[in-house]
Amino acid sequence: MADSDPIAALRDLRFDRLPTGAAVADGARVDPSAFVAPSATLYPGVEVEARSIVLDGAVLGRIPISNGTTNRPVVSEFSRVRVGAGSIVGCNSVLYTDVELGPRVLLGDLASLREGCRVGEGSVVGRGVMVLANCRIGAYCRVQDQAHLVGDCVLEDHVFVGMGVITSNDNEIYLSRFGIRGAPQRGPVIRRLAVVGSAATLLPNVEIGEGALVGAGAVVTRSVAPWTVVTGVPARSRGPVSDRWREQVVERAARPPASRDPR
Ligand SMILES: CC(C)(COP(=O)(O)OP(=O)(O)OC[C@H]1O[C@@H](n2cnc3c(N)ncnc32)[C@H](O)[C@@H]1OP(=O)(O)O)[C@@H](O)C(=O)NCCC(=O)NCCS
Repeated sequence: MADSDPIAALRDLRFDRLPTGAAVADGARVDPSAFVAPSATLYPGVEVEARSIVLDGAVLGRIPISNGTTNRPVVSEFSRVRVGAGSIVGCNSVLYTDVELGPRVLLGDLASLREGCRVGEGSVVGRGVMVLANCRIGAYCRVQDQAHLVGDCVLEDHVFVGMGVITSNDNEIYLSRFGIRGAPQRGPVIRRLAVVGSAATLLPNVEIGEGALVGAGAVVTRSVAPWTVVTGVPARSRGPVSDRWREQVVERAARPPASRDPR
């Protein structure tokens, strides 16, 4: 499939200004109870729901644009972008097309979500986090500052990803950078309640089992069994998560979520 023409998508755009000065394209919609800062830009298909806040410099609904040398075909077309009720989009964040944030999602400043991503209710995606195409982030996850989620990563509910975690989805990059195809690969899958410690690296095709704990700085080369602690390079099992920790997190995750939101 060839790349589509970005100029065709962009040249006829028309923007209105909200009273704040924000640029809102024809075909974008902002609930009257939401706040969109003066320098934010909303492209066609964006829907900002009630009581959401979109801060300065945020760009919502950006189309991907290829320079013609990328391996993946790029479709430069607008589609729906949803900012769920009560969500906050930080300064200079970029949401590409076909992104959905559930209710009460918090995106830190400079976060970037590529096309096709979904973020579930109440999740926090920290400052400068990069989320590549088609990632699925469940409800009540925390992805800390400057983590990098590669394309097709899956985070189930209540997953914690520490600062600067790196994920990858192509072990055959030596060939595939030239478009030479090998076996199909996928990004890591992180099952519910798991924790990935700061600066850990997850290699392609690994699954981090439910409730598992990956230590800071680990390089995970193989899947991690549920409720297991791994550390080191390469990551090796240090045994199970303690029964007391396991009982506490299972019990807490089953409760209705706490909210201190005054709005
Ligand atoms: C995995 C972890 C929970 C282990 O903590 P712990 O059980 O208290 O471990 P200890 O401090 O008792 O260390 C036990 C041994 O393991 C080693 N060790 C601990 N953490 C390690 C890690 N991440 N990688 C390699 N070795 C580690 C220690 O050096 C020590 O070795 P020694 O006995 O030879 O001195 C912790 O190290 C960790 O990685 N926490 C994650 C922190 C984080 O990233 N938080 C998110 C953002 S704030």
